[in-house]
Amino acid sequence: MIPEEKVREVAERISIVEVVSDYVQLRRAGGNFLGLCPFHAEKTPSFNVNPAREIFHCFGCGAGGNAFSFVMKIEGISFPEAVKLLARKNGIEIEERQLTPSELRSQDEHAQFLRINELTTSYYRSVLLNGQEGEPARQYLSKRSVEPDISDSYRLGFAPDRRDGLVKHLKINGVELESARKLGIVRKSDSGWHDLFRNRLIFPIRDARGQVIAFAGRVLDAALPKYINSPESPLYHKSSVLFGLDMALPSIRTGNSVIIVEGYFDHLALYRAGVQNVVATCGTALTGIHAGLIKRHAEQVYTLFDSDNAGRKATIRSMELFLEQRIPAYVISLPAGDDPDSFLAIHPAEDFASLRDKARPAFEYFLRSLLAETPPDSVDNKVRIIDDIVPRFRKIADSIERDLYEKEICRLLGITVHAFRKRMGGGNLSRQEGSGHQYKTSQPGDTIQDTLLALLLNYPDARAEIIRTGLETIFTDDYLELARLALESLERSNDNQVLSHLAETIENPEQKTLFSRIMVSDGYLADIEWRAVFDQCTRSHEKKQLASIKDIAARLAVLDPNCEEYSQLLRLADSLRTRKSKL
Ligand code: GTP
Ligand code: MN
Repeated sequence: MIPEEKVREVAERISIVEVVSDYVQLRRAGGNFLGLCPFHAEKTPSFNVNPAREIFHCFGCGAGGNAFSFVMKIEGISFPEAVKLLARKNGIEIEERQLTPSELRSQDEHAQFLRINELTTSYYRSVLLNGQEGEPARQYLSKRSVEPDISDSYRLGFAPDRRDGLVKHLKINGVELESARKLGIVRKSDSGWHDLFRNRLIFPIRDARGQVIAFAGRVLDAALPKYINSPESPLYHKSSVLFGLDMALPSIRTGNSVIIVEGYFDHLALYRAGVQNVVATCGTALTGIHAGLIKRHAEQVYTLFDSDNAGRKATIRSMELFLEQRIPAYVISLPAGDDPDSFLAIHPAEDFASLRDKARPAFEYFLRSLLAETPPDSVDNKVRIIDDIVPRFRKIADSIERDLYEKEICRLLGITVHAFRKRMGGGNLSRQEGSGHQYKTSQPGDTIQDTLLALLLNYPDARAEIIRTGLETIFTDDYLELARLALESLERSNDNQVLSHLAETIENPEQKTLFSRIMVSDGYLADIEWRAVFDQCTRSHEKKQLASIKDIAARLAVLDPNCEEYSQLLRLADSLRTRKSKL
C-alpha cells in the first residue's frame, strides 16, 4: 500500500509535461502543449497537455486524465505501479506504509505465489528443453512448426508423464506445498501430493506485466480433454485475463487495434506470422471485463473466431459487449473449416492481412448471419428477426450508424421505417445520445454546459452563484454528475491538484472524457467578466430546455402510458411548462 500523502507528494513533484514528454514530442500552443496522441493513430496533433491544470486530453480519441492516468494507460500498469514508476523517475523514495499484519501476510503470500509460478514455469521449460522426458513434446512442437524462438517467447514447457515431478521440484526449492495447492497446480489425495498437469504441453498464462499467473496444458495426442487450465486462484481470474496481452501491448499501441482469438495455438500462429496485436481468451467466453480491458488499450477490435456455429454465437455475443463499451468492432472471417493456425499453415501472412482488411463491422456481420439463418420470407420470420435485432440495435451508440443500419434493416426486411421504430418502442430516440433531447443525455460538446462547468471550475463566485441557482437547474446528466464531483473536491481544497486528482478518479468513461476536455480547453475563460457569460449561458440553456417540451410530447405520444418513463416524462414536461409560463 502506498500511503495517500505519498501519492500526493509524487503528484506535486512531477510535472505532467515532463512525464508525457518521455513518450510524446510536445510543443507549446498557447496555454497548452500539443503533440501526436500516443493512444490512437493520427497525423495532425490533437493531444493536449495543460500544465497549469496537470491534465491531458486528446480531442481525437477522448483519452484524458492526469499524469498517473497517462502512465497507467501508456504502460498498461495499475495505479500503484504508476505512482512507483513516477516516484522512481523523480528520485522520490516510497517507503510503503507499515502494513497491518494481515496485509503483510497477504503480501507475503502474493510474492510467494509468484515465486511458485516462476519455479513451475522454469521446471516445465527445462523438462521440455533437456533430457529424454521432453522428447515427445519436442517432436510435437516440431510437427506443429513451433521453432525454438517462438517456444521461448511463450516460455512453453512440458509436464512430464509423472505423478509428482512438479511436487518434488517445488519441495526441493523449499516451497510450502499448501501454497502451491492454492494455485491449483498440485493436489493432495489419500496417496499423497501429486501434480495437476501430466504429459501435457504447458502454456504459461501471464498478466499484462508478464508475470505468470496460471497455466494451460494441452495433450500431445487426440485425448480428451484437449486442454486443462489451472483453476481460479488468488492470482488468476479467467474472466479478466487475456492470454498474450503482455506480448501484444507494444503492437496494440502502435496500431491501436487488437485481434481477439479463442485458442492458444491461434494466438501462436498469428504471432509467428508477425501479427502481434493478438490476445486470446483462456478457454472461456469473452466477458464485459475483457471488453473493458481491451478498451483501455485499443481503439478498435477485431474478432477472429471459428467459422462454425459456436464461433458465430461467440462473435455475436462479443459484438454486444463491444457495442455496450462503444468500441468499434469488426469481424474477420476465415474460409469455412479453417482456424488461424490451419489458414496460416498454407497461406502467407499477406493473405491474412487481406482478410483483415476485408473485416466487416460486427453489426453488419450479425445482420447477415441472422438473415442467413432465418430467411425473411414470411411474416413470422420477419417478426422473429426484428425481435432478435431490436435489443442489439438499441445498443448502437453512434446516431449515424443507427440511421444507416435502420435503413438497411428496413430494406432487407421490406418493412417501413415507421414499422421498425414502432417495434423499437416509439420514435427514433437514441437512448444513449439523446440526439437533441436534453432530458436524456447531453450532446458531446454541448457548449453551453461546457462553459457553465468551466465557469464553476474557474470562478469561486460563479460557483457560489451556481449553487444558489441549484445545480439541477443548470446542469443535466453527465454535466450534473461532474459538477457535483467537482464541487465536492473543491470543497476540500481549492487548487488544481484536487481537480487533476479528480480527473484520474472519475470512473465513467464519458464523464472522464468530458472532464479532461473541459479542463484543457477552458483557457478562453481566463480573466473574463464571469457574470455576463454566466447570464448568457443560463438563458440559452433555459431556452433549449423549453424547446425540448416538443420532443417530450412526441415521445409521450408513442409510449405506453403505464410505463415508468411515461410518468417521468410527464412530470418533466409539467415542470418545464410551469417555468415557461413564468418567463
Ligand atoms: P489446437 O487445436 O491445438 O490448434 O489448439 P487451439 O488452442 O486452437 O484449441 P481449439 O481451437 O480447439 O480451442 C480453442 C480454445 O478453447 C483453446 O485454446 C482452449 O482455451 C479452449 N479449449 C479447447 N478445448 C478445451 C478443453 O477441452 N478444455 C478446456 N478447459 N478448454 C478448452
Ligand atoms: Mn486450433
